Amino acid sequence: MKREQWGSRAGFILAAVGSAIGLGNIWRFPYMAYENGGGAFFIPYLFAMLTAGIPFMLMEFSLGHKLRGAAPRTFSKIGVKLEWLGWFQVFIAAIIAVYYVAVIGWAISYFSYSFTQSWGSDTNGFFFSEYLKLGENSPTKLGSLQLHIAIPMVLAWGITFAAIFGGVKGGIERANKILMPLLFIMVMGLITRIVFLPGALDGLNYLFQPDFSKIMDAKVWSAAYGQIFFTLSVGFAIMIAYSSYLPEKSDINNNAFMTVLINCGFSITAGVLIFGVLGYMAQEQAKPITEVVSAGVGLAFVTIPAAINLLPAPYILGPLFFLALVVAGLSSHISIIEAVTSALIDKMNWSRKKAASIVCGVGFIVSLAFATNGGLLLLDLIDYFINNVALLTSCLIELLVIGWLFKAADVRSYANNISEFCVGKWFEICIRFLSPIMLAVILSTNLINTFKEGYGGYAMSDLLLLGWGLVAAMFVVAVIINLASKPQTHQEA
Ligand code: PHE
Ligand code: NA
Repeated sequence: MKREQWGSRAGFILAAVGSAIGLGNIWRFPYMAYENGGGAFFIPYLFAMLTAGIPFMLMEFSLGHKLRGAAPRTFSKIGVKLEWLGWFQVFIAAIIAVYYVAVIGWAISYFSYSFTQSWGSDTNGFFFSEYLKLGENSPTKLGSLQLHIAIPMVLAWGITFAAIFGGVKGGIERANKILMPLLFIMVMGLITRIVFLPGALDGLNYLFQPDFSKIMDAKVWSAAYGQIFFTLSVGFAIMIAYSSYLPEKSDINNNAFMTVLINCGFSITAGVLIFGVLGYMAQEQAKPITEVVSAGVGLAFVTIPAAINLLPAPYILGPLFFLALVVAGLSSHISIIEAVTSALIDKMNWSRKKAASIVCGVGFIVSLAFATNGGLLLLDLIDYFINNVALLTSCLIELLVIGWLFKAADVRSYANNISEFCVGKWFEICIRFLSPIMLAVILSTNLINTFKEGYGGYAMSDLLLLGWGLVAAMFVVAVIINLASKPQTHQEA
């Protein structure tokens, strides 16, 4: 059977950008920048973007385009002993998929609350006690299923399912052609109103004011690299799957640069939006900005609702903000599910419709664990290990495989041959030396710290089971699948 293809170049770019732009751009990037030195964060961030983000994207687009498979098949074509890496990445995608959808569900709920600001004035109490109903729970003591969280998640799964079921062109591309322009229009609308609010510029000054003392801090560099891989959706099977549907004639270099630059440009735009609002809020309440900011999930679901309460026409700006969050999240969720679905289509020879139904059905059931009283804690713990351990490990191994086993120079000449402008030798330097060294340092620091200090005050047994245990299990299962695979009949690439 012939492999599906994107209908147009713009269709592919929109889908790749749709995957990249997600919840990570809107709530994660602004507070990361804020916590890691404001304006000074942009130096490590841009450095990571240029030396790791762009080369990595180029590499994954080339691999997908050349080897025409989801991640497991692509890596098995590079070497029969490497199929496990593809499965390890697919497992990362599958796990992110089941908790990411919960955050989309929260955003859908908050979209509906935002018309009347029914979250009230104590937005912190509302989020944790009334909405999540978080009590004496832990990641392994989840409490009971919360229907009011599960129902919006059903909606999110429904949209994702429809897109995946409809196929590459008829489903995924079509969905992104609606979602992405909608997102850009909404964000532009929000920005033009926000920057004219009193105090908004103070907020921006705060975000962009450089704290150069942070530049020598290893943590800041680690945050920048982690954010780049997550924000670009590279290293966990997604971009390989998407680029495996590229038509023969495709300008890989151009596509990769565009995707990265649009994503990072969007992050900075979102930073302007969020900090503009915070600056306004600080002015309204006559408080310093540092007292109105809360990090992490709290930024989108506690601080922003509090800010919306103070905005002019909150019944317009509130829904716009949360709808933007939902739309950004959905287009990313579609891509994570496609990474898993396409791997099963390749491996099991299932039809797309069958694979989509099974993946979304099983995914939905598993994701209900995050719609419980303790769902937030489970999410927080798993997210930490996935990002700081599994994802960085996967990226590092991928770099080593391509840089040292396969030939990075071949990847570059392959991409250059079919692209309008050429990338230079810096590509190999980044793939073989710079990025692996940075990643190895960051990953080992993360591992040692997590080993020594644990994370977030969770019980050791929880960390062992849901953190270390989960990552180890993903690895073991991936290796077992690899060992059980019949030797491939196709030529090694
Ligand atoms: N790149 C997305 C973001 O910034 C994150 C993402 C995660 C996308 C997982 C796809 C899959 O939010
Ligand atoms: Na992103």
